[in-house]
Amino acid sequence: MKTIKKIGKWMGYALVSILLICLALYGYIYWNIEQRLNKVYPTATPAITIPSDSASIARGEHLFVVHGCKDCHGTDLKGRYITDETLIGKVAAQNITKGKGGLPVDYTDQDWLRVLKHGVNREGKTLIIMPANETTKLADNDLADIIAYCKSRPPKDNELDKNPELGPVLKALIAFDKLELLPAEHIDHQLNPIAEKKAEVSVEYGAYLTTNCAACHRTNFQGGPPLAPGAPEVPNITSSGRVGKWSETEFMQTLRTGTTPDGHKIDSTQMPWPRTREFSDVELKAVREFLLSLPKAETLVAK
Ligand code: HEC
Ligand code: HEC
Repeated sequence: MKTIKKIGKWMGYALVSILLICLALYGYIYWNIEQRLNKVYPTATPAITIPSDSASIARGEHLFVVHGCKDCHGTDLKGRYITDETLIGKVAAQNITKGKGGLPVDYTDQDWLRVLKHGVNREGKTLIIMPANETTKLADNDLADIIAYCKSRPPKDNELDKNPELGPVLKALIAFDKLELLPAEHIDHQLNPIAEKKAEVSVEYGAYLTTNCAACHRTNFQGGPPLAPGAPEVPNITSSGRVGKWSETEFMQTLRTGTTPDGHKIDSTQMPWPRTREFSDVELKAVREFLLSLPKAETLVAK
């Protein structure tokens, strides 16, 4: 009897300890995220003149699509919830027009640049999910045209919740720093701006256009396991993958029609080909040049 009682007592202690550890861990995660969200970043945003002529605005519209802004903020820029699930959280890609629920009337060019170059809001605090760690790599002339286009859009009313609510999944991803969800943490705020990037068929320009593909195809572009349960495997898009066997025309057709040369229909909810469809010939050719220039996957040594 005595031993059973003793075992019971120890099991009780063990349970209480586990509970305490869980609480401490949760407390730590909560504290850690609060600290990181409230950090104020010093930003030295250089003054860049934002054009307002129609050629720059048209170019800005193209870049708005190519760099993925449209995928989150929408065609009319009125924004949407990119996630609204209890487990994940509720985060809006904001309404970036001057309509109801949109940007404040006194939102300046500096505010725009702070977002796209530093990944912070007006208070200097990091944004969430907004991929400024990618937009910070864009040349000043491209950023200026994107901003010119956004500013030229008519106001749209769409009142979305401006304070992101983080569910347990987002909290865990942020706590363990997966996916670079707090962009300001992954930006060199000393900034080494690129004044202008020339659109040409070159490896360098292809690299410039593909910062955004790496999020899924991995930084070596060799793909890997699915990004979410039930999603397809992410293919290797270097020369050692299928892409290496496609001619330039086949490559371009695939990224424009969403159908590969072998007739496979690429799932547009998993791979943003409706965006690559809008790439110009020069842009697609540059992307291919870049992908084919990458080192091949290491040959597996037979055991
Ligand atoms: C993956 C989705 C996604 C993409 C792509 C994206 N954004 Fe955002 N954007 C967001 C989210 C989410 C927020 C809100 C962040 C927050 O509230 O912390 C946001 C916020 C903003 C804001 C408002 C920031 C502020 O001052 O509060 C601007 C301006 C903006 N984005 C512009 C752009 C432009 C321009 C592009 C393309 C170069 C772009 N975004 C691409 C998701 C995205
Ligand atoms: C959101 C994740 C994501 C992003 C961003 C993304 N891809 Fe993909 N890509 C995928 C997935 C997943 C597939 C496989 C889809 C399928 O088979 O239905 C794929 C397929 C492809 C294929 C077909 C390869 C083959 O062997 O069949 C090419 C080419 C490709 N992507 C190029 C790109 C380029 C270039 C970019 C950047 C401009 C890009 N992807 C951005 C997820 C992504």
